[in-house]
Order: sequence, then structure tokens, then C-alpha cells
Amino acid sequence: MQIDTDHLHHWMRAIRNSKDPIRTMDAFWKGQISSKEWLIKNLEVFIENPVTVDIHGGWVGTLASLLFQSNLGYRFKHIRNIDIDPTCQDISITMNQIEMEQGRFSAITADMCSIQSAADVIINTSCEHISQLQYDFWLGNLPIESLIVLQSNDYNIPEHVRTASSLDEFISQSGLTKLLFSDKLELPLYNRWMLIGKK
Ligand SMILES: C[S@@+](CC[C@H](N)C(=O)[O-])C[C@H]1O[C@@H](n2cnc3c(N)ncnc32)[C@H](O)[C@@H]1O
Repeated sequence: MQIDTDHLHHWMRAIRNSKDPIRTMDAFWKGQISSKEWLIKNLEVFIENPVTVDIHGGWVGTLASLLFQSNLGYRFKHIRNIDIDPTCQDISITMNQIEMEQGRFSAITADMCSIQSAADVIINTSCEHISQLQYDFWLGNLPIESLIVLQSNDYNIPEHVRTASSLDEFISQSGLTKLLFSDKLELPLYNRWMLIGKK
């Protein structure tokens, strides 16, 4: 997918102005970007009308920016980035400066388990960062009609508290009752799992 130079400028500002630029750049590893491009490519068929989107565990706002810059971009009325790490709020706002000024982007610091989401599309690509107990509580709070997009992986490192060793295990963890899409993306270090469905 194409990244335009105006957005690239804001990405660089976001990295440069962050307290820990090297840590911020972790969001730009090839595997991280490829996983988000894969998400966007497969989300396309499900987005016919303009929608609102909440990204839970949205980190520094890379996915939001890629969604805005994709072929689907004009269909996003508003994207909200939610992350428990307070450093993510300012970085994601700078990353999405153009859409922030258009009133189409916002960012908040919050535990995904303790906020209300009423968006048409709810994305959580950080499933490996929350326990099954937290996940079940989080899912329980989501609206029945929202389209839910989930990613996890089989990469066992200390900060991943709940990986899935297979796509079937991730389906079982997800608790989705209406599964519309499930697949894996093979990356050099790990497999990424993705589900799209409703609860
Ligand atoms: C390493 S990052 C993103 C990893 C993921 N594979 C991705 O690319 O989207 C994980 C993010 O989840 C956030 N996070 C973890 N637990 C959370 C929670 N309970 N509520 C909101 N955000 C959370 C972290 O602060 C971090 O920014």
C-alpha cells in the first residue's frame, strides 16, 4: 500500500518527538506493518458504508494511520485509538495529525476493559497482551452488532501473556459466535492469527 509524504512527515515527527524514539520505532518493524496491511486487505469486503472504528490496544496509532491512507480511508468517519500506556496518546495524535484536524481521529488513555465502545468496527490487535479473564470481560462489554477484528500470535516472549499456538486455539479463545473470516499470516519469527466476526 502507498504511504503519502504528508503522512510520512507526521510519522517522523511522532517518532522524533516521543520520549523514547527507539521504543516508538518498535511499531514499525516489518512484521508489525505487514500484519496491519493484511488486516486492511481482508477488512475491505466487510466495510460497505461509512463506519466508526475503535482500536483497542492501538499502541502508537500506526493502524489508524494506515486505515486512513488505505483504499478504504474515505469510509472511516472516525477512528479512536485506545491504549493503557499514557505515552501512546500524544504519539498517536501526532501520527494521525491530518485526520485529528479533520475531526476524524481521537486518542484516549484507558484500560480497554473499563471503557465503553459503541463503534461499528472494534479492532483489537493486542489480544496477546491481555489475559483470558481480561479478554472475556472486554468481549462481554462490546455491542452485539459491532464487527470485531482480532489479531494474536504464537510469539512467546514475556510481555505476551496469552498467545495461541494455532488458529484453532485462537478461535476457541475468541468466544466469537459468528465467525466471518479466519486465517494466518506466516512471518519470519512467528505466525499471526486474525479473526473477523461478531460476538
Ligand atoms: C506491543 S503493542 C501492540 C502489539 C500488537 N501486536 C499490534 O501491533 O497491535 C500492545 C499494546 O497493548 C496495550 N495494552 C496492553 N494491555 C492493555 C489494556 N488492558 N488496555 C489497553 N491497552 C492495552 C499496550 O500498552 C501496548 O501499547
